[in-house]
Amino acid sequence: MSRKPRLVVVGSINMDVVIEAIRPPRMGETVMGESVRFIPGGKGANQAVAAARLDADVHMIGVVGGDPFGHTLLDSLRGSGVDTAAVRVLDDVPSGVAGITLAGGDNSIIVVPGANGRLSPDDVAAHEDRIAEADAVLLQLEIPMETVIAAARTAKRRGVRVMLNPAPVRELPDELLALTDVICPNRIELETLTGLPAEGKALPKAMRQLRQRGAGQVVVTLGADGAAFLDERDHWGTEPGRSVRVVDTTGAGDAFHAGLAVALAEGRSLPDAVRFAVCTGSLAVTRFGAQTGMPSRREVDELESRKN
Ligand code: RIB
Repeated sequence: MSRKPRLVVVGSINMDVVIEAIRPPRMGETVMGESVRFIPGGKGANQAVAAARLDADVHMIGVVGGDPFGHTLLDSLRGSGVDTAAVRVLDDVPSGVAGITLAGGDNSIIVVPGANGRLSPDDVAAHEDRIAEADAVLLQLEIPMETVIAAARTAKRRGVRVMLNPAPVRELPDELLALTDVICPNRIELETLTGLPAEGKALPKAMRQLRQRGAGQVVVTLGADGAAFLDERDHWGTEPGRSVRVVDTTGAGDAFHAGLAVALAEGRSLPDAVRFAVCTGSLAVTRFGAQTGMPSRREVDELESRKN
């Protein structure tokens, strides 16, 4: 492809309040933390930033509050080259916030959607022209479900690839699955969506269930084990993980989804695109923070060209 991949992200924009501790507290317990940092995040915004760093032309459709967090979040998107003309700023609602506990490189997250809850089907309709010009629309589930469905319907009607990262996981209407060209859950999300085990030999069966319910291609992230994929002709395969030093897993799934979208938009085959996505996600975990940890195109190309 001679032009850059063009992607539209319809999704959340959060300020991540990241508290590092030796271990997470148990319910009812207080533990001492090591540090607190405020890092731009949100699954939608993370995917937008990751794709822009991979040299895609990225447009974000979202909502932030008119508070100091909102301005910082917009700056972070713009600083990575994301077009924010379709991000609304609302003065009467706080920006989305994620409380993240980081312990031993792994995290637990509570998201308070705030302004993200006001992203509506009207926002999608207002920017249909941008969607129509895209190679793919990237969706997640931190915004109202009716908005996710409206974006998927619009993209489908305009012949644009619909990519869904079903996180945080919740029940998916069959209509949304039928509109989805590529669904990209992690293993736990796959188990929740299907009610089936997804460990070891059980994995392909769970992935096939999503295809039987209407999804096109299914790609499952497996953490350090890489990823598995199932294409529309029922070909199943895996891509091994890259061995890296894990600093912070926050945003790894977002990096993966962005990498997958960019590579598919560049016309790469599904197995090739999954390899590129595994490399993108692997590099993201080697650095602290969601958006601050997203790798550059050069870094991903370099890792991909290396033998594992
Ligand atoms: O996927 C990671 C993201 O989930 C964090 O940046 C946080 O904002 C939550 O949305």
